[in-house]
Amino acid sequence: MTSPENRNENDGNRLIQAIRGTRDLLPGETEAWDVFEGLVRDTMALYGYREIRTPIFEETQLFARGIGEHTDIVGKEMYTFRDQGDRSITLRPEGTAPVVRAWLEHKLGAQGVIDKLFYIGPMFRQEAPQKGRSRQFHQFGAEIIGTDAPEADVETILLFLAILEGLGLDSWTLHLNSLGSRESRMAYREELTGYLEGVANMLPEEVRGRIASNPLRVLDSKEEQVQEVTAGAPSILDFLDDASREDFERVKTLLTDRGVPFVINPRLVRGLDYYERTTYEILSPDLGSQDALCGGGRYDGLGEMLGSPERIPGVGFAAGIERILMALETAGEDLVFEAQTEVAVVSIGEAARRRLFALCDQLRGAGVACHFDLTERSVKAQMREANRLDARLAIIAGDKDLEKDEVTLKDLASGEEEAVPIERIIPVVVERLEHTDPELEE
Ligand code: HAM
Repeated sequence: MTSPENRNENDGNRLIQAIRGTRDLLPGETEAWDVFEGLVRDTMALYGYREIRTPIFEETQLFARGIGEHTDIVGKEMYTFRDQGDRSITLRPEGTAPVVRAWLEHKLGAQGVIDKLFYIGPMFRQEAPQKGRSRQFHQFGAEIIGTDAPEADVETILLFLAILEGLGLDSWTLHLNSLGSRESRMAYREELTGYLEGVANMLPEEVRGRIASNPLRVLDSKEEQVQEVTAGAPSILDFLDDASREDFERVKTLLTDRGVPFVINPRLVRGLDYYERTTYEILSPDLGSQDALCGGGRYDGLGEMLGSPERIPGVGFAAGIERILMALETAGEDLVFEAQTEVAVVSIGEAARRRLFALCDQLRGAGVACHFDLTERSVKAQMREANRLDARLAIIAGDKDLEKDEVTLKDLASGEEEAVPIERIIPVVVERLEHTDPELEE
């Protein structure tokens, strides 16, 4: 059967489009992404995080073991395929398991150094696309590996909030929880399973199915019916072991010291199995149902799940770039601007075209953003294009001008024109642009 999603090569002449749940980032948008990523990089540097770039695809086992067989991500959402060597490969659905794999593989912790790493890049999950949820999306994330100090948990939160502040995005809510240790979580799981079995007949079918496989996930369902039925469920916070309880208290105190407001949400279990102790999410009121700007927490057992003989403590978060940009737009904070052409070069005639083509490149060498009209159209059309690009100056010359070794320099705002000897044009343009730099004029 041919549905819009699984059309195949047979429909010969169809115009090929991007796959559902993916999209192109076009000029006009990519500039905002660059500004955004620049801010992320600067803030990461300020906090002492260094960039890591792991492969886009990994052995499937990495995610199956790290994230957990019974999670939605591994069970339903991964892009998994067999390569030519019959190996099971998965496009990364998240960055934490790859980062910990790389950390172990390259023995980054060999000197007992605490590693603070960050990443930016695409992730892949086969979820039903909707506002704020796509199949290829982009995250930036930060991980601190090698310490279980509660300051590390709090530092990752402060780091993310510093990025939001840098963007001017000031409405958010921090949800905080502790899942305790693996052991205390097992005890809780048993208790919760008993409770859920008691109310199972009031739960929707697909939620009921989770009671045996992943009962904690039943609690963070967004469905009202589920929330109502499970209102009296036991709280994970009543099951914390002493060390986890103490740790959670310290996290809360450190946040309070920094004046960071938070909401305790005992239902915040997160969708990945590697978490222990602290989990958190930062939500935006400017998004619809997919309102988590970032999610994170502590994953002290993940290293062992990936085959490390030792326990490797770690904590971090990842944030959805599309969601942050969407929240910014709703909040009226604009990162979008057009790439600025400073000078448009307009030529008439073959000899002038050749000479000005070279000049244009020399201007770029002098740091001037220069546009050379690649179509051989009329001067009028070239000037119209110069105005459309919002260039500040135009350099205009025909074959006759160049016989006199001159070009015309036109200020496109005032309309003023002057003849400039061609060998002087670069310093004259540079000087003019400095004097009319809109940023300096503000
Ligand atoms: P996550 O909660 O699965 O956690 O994803 C983090 C963030 O990525 C979400 O809060 C959301 O902003 C964005 N995101 C997730 N799925 C989608 C999607 N389909 N479309 C658009 N945006 C999406 C993790 O990935 C963990 N690795 C976080 C972490 C790092 N925990 C510890 N360290």
